[in-house]
Amino acid sequence: MFDTLTPPEADKILKLMAMFAADERPEKVDLGVGVYRTPDGRTPVMKAVKQAEERIWQSQESKSYVGLAGDPGFHHAMGDLILGDTADPTRVAAIATPGGTGAVRQIMELMRNTSPDATLWISDPSWPNHMAIAQYLRLNVRRYRYYDVETGGLDRDGMMADLASIQRGDLVLFHGCCHNPSGAELTAQDWRDLGALLDRTGAIPFIDIAYQGFGEGLDEDAEGTRILAQMLPEVLIAASCSKNFGLYRDRAGVAFALASGEEAKGKAQAALASLNRQNYSFPPDHGARVVDTILHDPELAATWWTELTAMREGMLATRAALTQALQAETGSDRFGFLASHRGMFSLIGATPDQVETLRNDHAIYVVGDGRMNVAGLTPASIPKVAKALAQVLT
Ligand SMILES: Cc1ncc(COP(=O)(O)O)c(C=O)c1O
Repeated sequence: MFDTLTPPEADKILKLMAMFAADERPEKVDLGVGVYRTPDGRTPVMKAVKQAEERIWQSQESKSYVGLAGDPGFHHAMGDLILGDTADPTRVAAIATPGGTGAVRQIMELMRNTSPDATLWISDPSWPNHMAIAQYLRLNVRRYRYYDVETGGLDRDGMMADLASIQRGDLVLFHGCCHNPSGAELTAQDWRDLGALLDRTGAIPFIDIAYQGFGEGLDEDAEGTRILAQMLPEVLIAASCSKNFGLYRDRAGVAFALASGEEAKGKAQAALASLNRQNYSFPPDHGARVVDTILHDPELAATWWTELTAMREGMLATRAALTQALQAETGSDRFGFLASHRGMFSLIGATPDQVETLRNDHAIYVVGDGRMNVAGLTPASIPKVAKALAQVLT
C-alpha cells in the first residue's frame, strides 16, 4: 500500500530548519524557527516549570487516565488567565488538548460536525497550519485581508470590507494577540468594532491565542478575547501553553466553547469531550498539570510571571534596537513598523527572491513569506542583520 503514496508537500519551516542546520557558515543567523530564544540562543526550561515538575514528581501517586476532557483544575486556571472575570464559568465548556494545534483541530472538527455549510474566515496572512487543517477537514474557507505590506500595519479597511460578507453561523478566526506571521495587532477599538459586526450578523469568533504574555502583558494580550466574551453569546477559543510556559514538546493546550447559557454549555462540553474520545481518547496531562500547579500557587505564579516578563521585555528591546539600527542604516523610518509589532514575529515585506538573497549572500534565514522571528536576534547579530536588510530590501 505504501508504494502508491505521494509524498506530502514539505513543510516550509521544517525545510528551512534543515537548510540552516546544513549551512556551515559560522556567522549564520536563524530567524526562521518559531520558538523563543534567549540572547545566547537557548530555549530553556522555565524555572517555574522545573519547580512545578519537582512538586508533581514528589506528590503524584498515579498515572492512571485523567477524564476525557482533561483536568478541571487546568481548565479553570487557563480560563482565569485568558478570560479573567469576563465569562461566567457556567457558560464555559473546556477540554485539554495536545497543544494549541490540538485545540485548533478540535474546534474546526466541531465546526465541521455542527455547521458543515458555514464558512471559516481566516486572515491573510495567517499561521499556515490554520489553512492546512481547514483544508484537510474540507471546510469552506475564505480569507480576509489583514496586513498592509506597504505600511507594515493592519489593513483595517480591507479587513472590515472583506468581513462585511460574513453570514450567520460563519466562524471568523482571529489571533488573540501577537499575530503570526505579521506582528500587526488589533486595537481594543478594532475588537469592539469586530464584536459589533459579529453581533449584528450572528457569526461566531474563533480566537487562537498562542502567545499570551509575549505582546504587552498577560491581561493586555487577552483584552480582545475578553471584549468578545462580554459582547457575544458564543465564542470559541484555542489556547496554547507552548510558548508562554515554554512547554513546546509537552503538548499543553485547551479548547474553550463559551455558550449562551448553562444548557448549551452542557451540550458543547459533551461534543468536545466526544471529539477527544474519537481522536486520542485522553488528552496529555503532564504539561497541563505543570500549568495548573504554577497558576494555583502564588509563589510559582510569581516566578513564572517574572520570567515571562523578562522574555517579553527582551523581545521589545530587541525590536527597538533593530528598528534603531535600521534607521541608522537607511536614514529613514522605512522599518519603523517593526517597533510597533508585537510578539515574536514580523513580516518584513521581503519578496521570495529577497528572502533567498538574505539566505545565500548573508546567511540570514527568514521564512519564505518574509516572516522574521525577532527572538532569533542577538545583540551581536542585530548590526549585521540591519545592514543586510537595508541592503537587500531598499
Ligand atoms: C498562531 C498559532 N496558533 C497555534 C499554535 C500552536 O502551537 P502548539 O501546538 O505548539 O501549542 C502556534 C504555534 O506556532 C501558532 O503560531
